[in-house]
Amino acid sequence: MKIEDKSAFRIDTLFDADTIAARNRELADKIASAGLDNLLVVAVLKGSFVFTADLLRALYGANLSPEVDFISLSSYRSGLESSGEVEILRDVETDVKGRNVLLVDDILESGRTLAFAKDLFSARGASKVASCVLLDKANKRVVDIDADYFGFECPDVFVVGYGMDMAHSFRELPFVGVVVQENEI
Ligand code: IMP
Ligand code: MG
Repeated sequence: MKIEDKSAFRIDTLFDADTIAARNRELADKIASAGLDNLLVVAVLKGSFVFTADLLRALYGANLSPEVDFISLSSYRSGLESSGEVEILRDVETDVKGRNVLLVDDILESGRTLAFAKDLFSARGASKVASCVLLDKANKRVVDIDADYFGFECPDVFVVGYGMDMAHSFRELPFVGVVVQENEI
């Protein structure tokens, strides 16, 4: 699916920019109080790139100075439904052996992506693999996993913005919103 005409959609705000920024500061304070030394933040791309960038600066505000790396995982392809398989599209460059890792993802839904990433970094010898997601769709879980930190509980709707996309569109929105199709025929 490619979105040819964005005016066919209305985006209703679910979490506005100020609400997200305030929550990021709270998350950073909680993460800082966990005392994870030698911390490596790993952004699970693509959807988490905006959240990770803001969380990282909130962590600075909480007196942490983590390193950062990126992994690109795909379970979604370009459709709305998860395929069930997780694939590494681009790997981290850092040796995670003996490191405290904080995985950062946009949404925890079935749990497959986070479970895959946790297993991967544990198998590579990380000391601890903690996780922080912006949104938790708790009633959509297929794998029994929870994030150590999450920003907001999210209703079972398809959300976009703040880095998250629908068929590669809407990542640039500075808030999290719900896509509503206008003029449905
Ligand atoms: P999980 O493996 O089912 O937990 O998949 C979570 C991933 O699916 C997230 O990191 C997102 O990339 C994607 N995803 C799940 N729900 C949404 C949504 O509402 N909007 C955009 N992406 C989503
Ligand atoms: Mg993702």
